[in-house]
Order: sequence, then structure tokens, then C-alpha cells
Amino acid sequence: MARVLSGIQPSGALHIGNYFGMMKQMIGFQESSELFCFIVNYHAMTSLHDGDELRKNTIEAAIDFLALGLDPKRSIFWIQSDVPEVAELSWILSCHTSLGLLERSHSYKDKLARGLAANTGLFTYPVLMAADILLYVSNIVPVGKDQKQHIEITRDIAGSFNNTYGDIFVMPEGAISEETAVIPGIDGQKMSKSYDNAINIFDDEKTLKKKIMKIVTDSTPVEEPKDPDKCNLFSIYKLFATESMLSDMKDRYLKGGTGYGQVKKELLDLLIEYFKPYRENRRQFETDHGEVYRILKEGADKARSAASVTLKRVKDAVGLNY
Ligand code: ADP
Ligand code: TRP
Repeated sequence: MARVLSGIQPSGALHIGNYFGMMKQMIGFQESSELFCFIVNYHAMTSLHDGDELRKNTIEAAIDFLALGLDPKRSIFWIQSDVPEVAELSWILSCHTSLGLLERSHSYKDKLARGLAANTGLFTYPVLMAADILLYVSNIVPVGKDQKQHIEITRDIAGSFNNTYGDIFVMPEGAISEETAVIPGIDGQKMSKSYDNAINIFDDEKTLKKKIMKIVTDSTPVEEPKDPDKCNLFSIYKLFATESMLSDMKDRYLKGGTGYGQVKKELLDLLIEYFKPYRENRRQFETDHGEVYRILKEGADKARSAASVTLKRVKDAVGLNY
């Protein structure tokens, strides 16, 4: 059975780009695979330097995942730092990672361009991600398109390590769904926690309405035909609509007579309806943090057993065990 693994940063509230780009795929995999899912709090530290906030975001992200259907009975679900072996492997891998490989990282360059302070953790972020993937012997890594290069870097690091020490690591493959590879934010750029353009999965209705009304569109008048393929609003609508609603909306765009304000109202109703059952689940977990921590600790114990097997092989190979 293939082992599927992915993680999400608790750097802020989770949004519909996270859901359609990664979380939904992951939850789907629990039916057919051995699923490893975790909250990557070490990674979030590259941009978040407030202990209380990191703690709060970590439990909130875990609650979101559980509310959206991640089943701890059919998966291993934990917090990254509860298995500190990953930091040890990250160090070992960093000694097999060329500087040039990290200097070519788009994600690092984008973050710098957006004015994020460049700490060393931000630069070596892909090495820690490689450690996550390789430590747990992952075969498939479901992610959004922005993470594609990080998986290629992981494969490069694994290849170079294996060249030196023999076949220690298994080569992982990314799983990127074409349709939801990049979900746009309300400003039309990639939706992200850090770009202030996100529609959060569990925003209250008032906030959802405010954000949806702010989705940027062109200024085509109501009566004129509009191009659905160039419309950011349509791309978001598409995520929630059934096939028949979608073809109907496409016709309305092409015919003219439907204003963007009307499309936004319909999108808001659809979105609220879509997440309604999950919202109810969420309320249950919110009132029982003890149970959520219990699930996460149980997951960490299982993850740690898997991790210790790989780490032993690695330490034997590199000469750290004697
Ligand atoms: P963010 O950019 O909001 O901080 P993360 O880096 O924590 O999100 O991403 C968590 C997962 O969600 C990753 O697999 C990432 O590729 C996916 N993801 C994030 N934003 C989007 C998006 N706008 N469209 C598709 N997938 C996304
Ligand atoms: N870098 C990923 C992101 O920002 C999060 C991540 C950390 C991850 N470790 C991972 C994803 C291992 C997949 C596998 O989205």
C-alpha cells in the first residue's frame, strides 16, 4: 500500500486554497492509502515569531483538519515537533545539500521579494521538508503547485545521499491535481495566508460576505458578455458548483445580463452550504481540545516509531552510530 504524506504550516487560518489544493486530496487518500498528515510547526517558525500565536494556530489547524474529515483511526496525524528526530535528519541532509540548490528555490526568492526577513531557517526550509518526506518513507506527497519545486529538491537531496551511501531513501513523487493546482485569492494572485488575500474555510458569514464582495473583477457592465476563462471570480465559483450549475453560469457569462455582484451572492450561498456540515464538526472539536491533543499525541507515538527505523539506518550509514 502506498504511503501518502503531507503537511501544512500553522502560520495563520487555513483557507480554501489550502483545502482544494491539498487538504481535500489528503483526506481522500485515507480510503486507499497509508496516510501520514502533520502540522508543520517547525516550518511556521521561519515566519512566525510569537509563541502564543504559534500554539494557537497549531491547535486550530489540527481542529480544521479533523473537522474537514481527517479520520485519526485511518491515518497518522501529529504535530511535526513532537517527533524531533526530523530536526536531526535535517542536519544530516543539510550536509548533503549544495548551496546552489537552495539558492534556486522560487519560494525563497518570492518571500525575499515580498520583504520577509531572510533568516537561515527560511533558506534551509526545503531541507527540513526533505527530512519530513524521507524520514517517513513517503511514496506520494499531495501538494499545491507552489510546492512542486520543494519535492524536486527532496528528490535531488535523496539522490545525492543515496549516491554516497547506497539505497537508503525511497524516491517520493508529488501529487498535484491540475484543476486545483493554484487557487486564486480575492486579488487574483495565488491565495496565501501571508498575502492578505485569503478566504478562510471557517471565517464567519459576515467576514465571508465581505471578502467575497471584494473579489477583484474587470469592469464589464452587467448587460455585456463576459469571459469566464479570464475571470478570477469564476475560478473560485467553479470550486463549489456542480457540473450543471457551472455550465449554466458559463452561459450566463457569455450571454451577458448577469453582473459580478449577482455571481458573488450565489458564490457566497454555495460556499456557506458547502462547509456547513464541517462547521458543525468543528464546534465539537473546539469544545474538547483535550481530545484533539490526545489524538495528536497518539499520532506522534506512531510517527516516532516509523521515524526511528529510518534514522537508525541513516546514522548507521553515515557513521554516527558506533
Ligand atoms: P500558504 O501559502 O497559505 O501559507 P501553505 O504553504 O501552508 O499555504 O500550504 C499548505 C498546502 O496548501 C500546500 O500543499 C500548498 O501547495 C497548498 N496551497 C496553498 N495555497 C494554495 C493555493 N492558492 N492553491 C492551491 N494550493 C495551495
Ligand atoms: N512546505 C509545505 C508548505 O508550505 C509544508 C510542508 C512541510 C510539507 N513539510 C512537508 C508538505 C512535507 C509536504 C510534505 O505547504
